[in-house]
Amino acid sequence: MKLANRTKKTSNSGLDEIFAASGPGVISFAGGYPDQQLFPKQELEKAFSSSFQSSNSNLLQYNSSLGYLPLRDKLAQRLQDDGIVVNADSIMLTQGAQQGIDLAARLLLDKGDGIVVEAPTYLGALAAFDVYEPTYYEVSMDNDGMNIEALRKVLMSHQVKMIYTVPDFQNPTGTVMSLEKRKALIKLANDYDVVILEDGPYRNLRYKGESLPPIKHFDTQGRVIFLGSFSKILAPGLRLGWLTAGPELFSGLVALKGGSDVESSNLTMASVNVYLEENDLDEHIATVRSTYKRRKDVMIESLQHFLPSGVSYTNPDGGFFLWLTMPAGFDSTEFLKNNLIPNKVSFVPSANLMPSKKLKNAARLSFSNVSEEDIRSGIQTMSQLLSAKLISMKGIKKHVKQ
Ligand SMILES: Cc1ncc(COP(=O)(O)O)c(C=O)c1O
Repeated sequence: MKLANRTKKTSNSGLDEIFAASGPGVISFAGGYPDQQLFPKQELEKAFSSSFQSSNSNLLQYNSSLGYLPLRDKLAQRLQDDGIVVNADSIMLTQGAQQGIDLAARLLLDKGDGIVVEAPTYLGALAAFDVYEPTYYEVSMDNDGMNIEALRKVLMSHQVKMIYTVPDFQNPTGTVMSLEKRKALIKLANDYDVVILEDGPYRNLRYKGESLPPIKHFDTQGRVIFLGSFSKILAPGLRLGWLTAGPELFSGLVALKGGSDVESSNLTMASVNVYLEENDLDEHIATVRSTYKRRKDVMIESLQHFLPSGVSYTNPDGGFFLWLTMPAGFDSTEFLKNNLIPNKVSFVPSANLMPSKKLKNAARLSFSNVSEEDIRSGIQTMSQLLSAKLISMKGIKKHVKQ
């Protein structure tokens, strides 16, 4: 069958096959999943059943592309508390942040248009962008967010329509963009007339330190599209997220949502609204945060204890991920396939996390959905395999030199 050209490129390129071959019993540091033991199943069950029982048939009817108003009201309040001045009329509920990424790309990108992505970045965003066949410009990451000087150079010399960033506990490096960089980024976007897509699903999952204002907070021209999600703080199976943007972008996004799936599920939106009325979401977030923080600490301790020298890692203040960097010349995709998977451990190799696939010697490790015991033993196994690999690489280098 003849499929559309746009479907030919896939950012996943081979990862599914590698993971499918790994079979059961793998300690996976690969998936960015929340822990399902932490989902408030009973409370959600109660909320779904009471919203279903108490409503007339309205919830089963078509409503509006914007989504269920009482829930948008509550989100407006939460966003205001977080430094984003917004009311319910400029919030749209989406099927997760993922749909927001897709809608933003659909709104802005014609074939060949320029988009800046952090390098490395979120694989699912690349999968969404690829379909619109953009021209990618990669901007490297420092330990306080994207390299603003490199971004400036790109904007000076290329036509760019959109910058995609995950400023809080970035997927995949775990880094947080500094306050100075947030301000510099919005200034550059204003100067060069570029839209910023700010993706914030991990914003509430801070384990240490003070929260910084979202980039959207500094947006005086309505050019930041901000995305949020219930996936990491409640449950991803709800498929419920939200977006807000300046009026021009927002009306375009609403029209596109209508053409895409008409609206999100009213039953789900109303039930999550009941959940928020009957429960303290912040209390729930505090509980999940403490579990993820412990897991992160165990992963850091294990890395400190077992990793061979020459391998470095980030120590994130929140989120689900940390970033492992091996010496130059190391190929983490090959290591995953030939060493880790046969020994029942996995991670996401760096090459998959950028359009150019240039960076080969790093990997993303996720600690969110692995028990403390498995984190210890998985990191120990991975470290032993890394040591052996690095020793064999040194041997090869010496051999070549002689
Ligand atoms: C940075 C980032 N954006 C968006 C998503 C998608 O989230 P959602 O379930 O809200 O669609 C993820 C999920 O892992 C993510 O890491």
